[in-house]
This record gives sequence, C-alpha cells and structure tokens, in this order.
Amino acid sequence: MAKFGEEETAGQFSNRLSGIVEGGLTSLSIAFGVKTGLFDILVEHHHTPMTSQELADAGGFKERYVREWLGAVAGARIVHLDPVTERYHIPAQLLDVFKKGTPQNHLVLATKAVPFLSEVFNDMREVVKKEGPLGLPFSKAKSFTEFEDDFSRLWYENEFRQEFIPSIPSLHTKLDKGISMLDVGCGHGAGILNLAEHYPRSRFVGIEIGEDSVKSARDLANVKNLTNVEFHCIDATTLPKDWANTFDYVFFHNVIHDLARPDLVLKEVKEVMKPEALMSVLEINASSKQANNIDSQGGSELYTFSLFHCLPVSCNTPGSLGLGTAWGKEAATEFFKEQGFTIKSITELPKLHFLCTVSTESLKGQ
Ligand SMILES: C[S@@+](CC[C@H](N)C(=O)[O-])C[C@H]1O[C@@H](n2cnc3c(N)ncnc32)[C@H](O)[C@@H]1O
Repeated sequence: MAKFGEEETAGQFSNRLSGIVEGGLTSLSIAFGVKTGLFDILVEHHHTPMTSQELADAGGFKERYVREWLGAVAGARIVHLDPVTERYHIPAQLLDVFKKGTPQNHLVLATKAVPFLSEVFNDMREVVKKEGPLGLPFSKAKSFTEFEDDFSRLWYENEFRQEFIPSIPSLHTKLDKGISMLDVGCGHGAGILNLAEHYPRSRFVGIEIGEDSVKSARDLANVKNLTNVEFHCIDATTLPKDWANTFDYVFFHNVIHDLARPDLVLKEVKEVMKPEALMSVLEINASSKQANNIDSQGGSELYTFSLFHCLPVSCNTPGSLGLGTAWGKEAATEFFKEQGFTIKSITELPKLHFLCTVSTESLKGQ
C-alpha cells in the first residue's frame, strides 16, 4: 500500500476506497447473520448444503430476505453457492471461525461493532458541535456494551484464568489460599464469575455503574450457586469507606479509558488496597502519539471505536479527562505514577498490562 500523500494515485486510492466501502457493508451483513442466528444454522448443517428456503424454514425466517442475505455473504466469498444445485454451505475450513466460543470467532463478533456504533451516528453529529452535548450517556451505548461483553467474554473464557492469572507471580497460589479481589467496572462479571468458581477460598467483589450489567452478573452468580462473589452498582469515584485496606488484588480490564475521572477512581482504589496489594490495569495496546498508531494495523478501527463509544461516554461528565481508547502506553505510564502507583511491569498480551503497587510515598501519606 502506498504511503498517504506519497505514491498512491487517485485511481489507486479509489480502488482502496471501494474495498473500504465493501468491507463496511459486508461487515453489516456478517453481523446480521450472527445476530439472527443464520450462521449458526449453516454451521449446524455444514454437511448438507441448504437451499435458501431450507435455511429460512430452519430459522423461521422469510425466504425472500434470507436469499438476499445469502447473496451478500456468498458475494463476499464467505458462504459457498453451488451454481447448479443453488445450495449454500460454509466451507469446512471456515467452520471454527463461525462457531460460537472458539478463539477464532472474535473477528466475526467484531463485525457487530458496525451496526452497534452506527446507533449513535446521529447523536455524534450533535456531540461534535462546539455547543452540542458533552458526550453520550451510557444508556445510549447499551448495544455497544453488549458487543464489548461478547468480545471480552471470549478472552475471559479462553485466556484469563488459564494464561493471564498465572502470568502474575504468585497470584494463582494466593487466590488458591484465599484473598480478596476487586474488579472495577466489571461489566457482566464474566471475569470474576469464572475465578470465583475455580478459587472457592477467595472472595471476589465486582463494582459497576451499569444497573443492567450488575443484575445480569448477580443472576449468573445465583445460577452457578456462587457465594464467594458479590456485585455492587457503585460509581467507582466513591467507594464505601468501610472497604478501606480490604483488597489484595485490584483488576481493571478495558475500563480506565472509559472513565470520566480515572484520577478520582484511582485515589479511591488506593484507599481500599492493602499495603502489599497488586493492581492490574489492562488497556488497549497503543502509543500516545497518533502518528505511531495510524501506520499500525487496526489504527483506524481504534479511533473509530473511540470516536463513537469510549470518548463520548467518558466525556459526558463536566471535567472529564477525555482519555480516549488510544491514550497509549506513554501517557498511561506517566498517569499511574502521578496517581501514586509504582509500575512493577508492563507486558503486551496483546493488550497492555500494567502491574502496579501503591508507591511507598503514597503509603507514607495515607
Ligand atoms: C469497556 S467496559 C469493560 C467491562 C469489563 N471490565 C469487561 O472486561 O468486559 C467498561 C465498563 O466500565 C463501567 N464504568 C464506567 N464508568 C464507571 C464508573 N464511574 N464506576 C463504575 N463502573 C464504570 C462501564 O459501565 C462498563 O461496563
């Protein structure tokens, strides 16, 4: 690909633009197939190619629309159409990509970002105006929260307990013996629900500002009969005073850049951490310099996610720091130090993992 403003001619750019447009539109059709369950039916029937009528009947859909959808996904060479029998199937080598819960499924889930982010397209036309609203309330971003939850669930199911927890020295042993862990901005609680099942001697607390998420996390804990996990609908900028000096391990996954005032949240978190406690912060792997991100794969995606979700939800409060999804490694490193933490390590997982303790100076001041 030619570098911007250099060798690329207008004709080459037009070709590239047509690929961008096609990709966006195809993403919408893929997301439609995921949300309606059309792909699930094709996966289930992969041994027996189906006609559009059979597919429609199997899912209780109108054949005419299903045929149009099949045209979109066959045109994108995702579903194979036999021109003679007019039957459709997913090629065997793509099955895992479309099967729910497989690690390969994450990019298919990512297509749902297109319809979900588009829901706030018109709101953002107002927000961007100088005199427009500051940002978007979380209630406007409900669908996108569902998307994020699906996406992070894959990580929680496949890597969190198996790879992430053992990567932190002695954490597995401590959890096994019994410690207290706080998950800040826990969403639907997938992470600590998973840990609570496997570490029955430890106590897990999830806090989350979204009422619906807290309700669904509590429901899941009840279904699983878990008594060592609790969820609270709390704004993390004001934690209960009687939690002071309680937690051995604090965890933030994809949360700091969504917060209006991460400085106030970290101040509170320091209070509830025990002196020897660890804090893990997982953030998007990006540089704080935009110029360094735009050349890397996914650079444009990162800023699109930020523009239509992370930035407006965090900026909706007066005085917000407005970090944005790609606030980046350099700024985050400085920020955690300024807030009174010592960074023990920064690892790329591929997310950035900042493993921190409360700094000695902060402990003296407490
Ligand atoms: C990107 S989501 C990440 C959710 C979860 N940690 C995960 O891994 O799926 C960020 C979460 O932070 C929550 N949040 C934002 N501001 C908050 C605040 N002030 N207090 C508590 N939770 C907050 C949001 O409701 C949202 O669920």
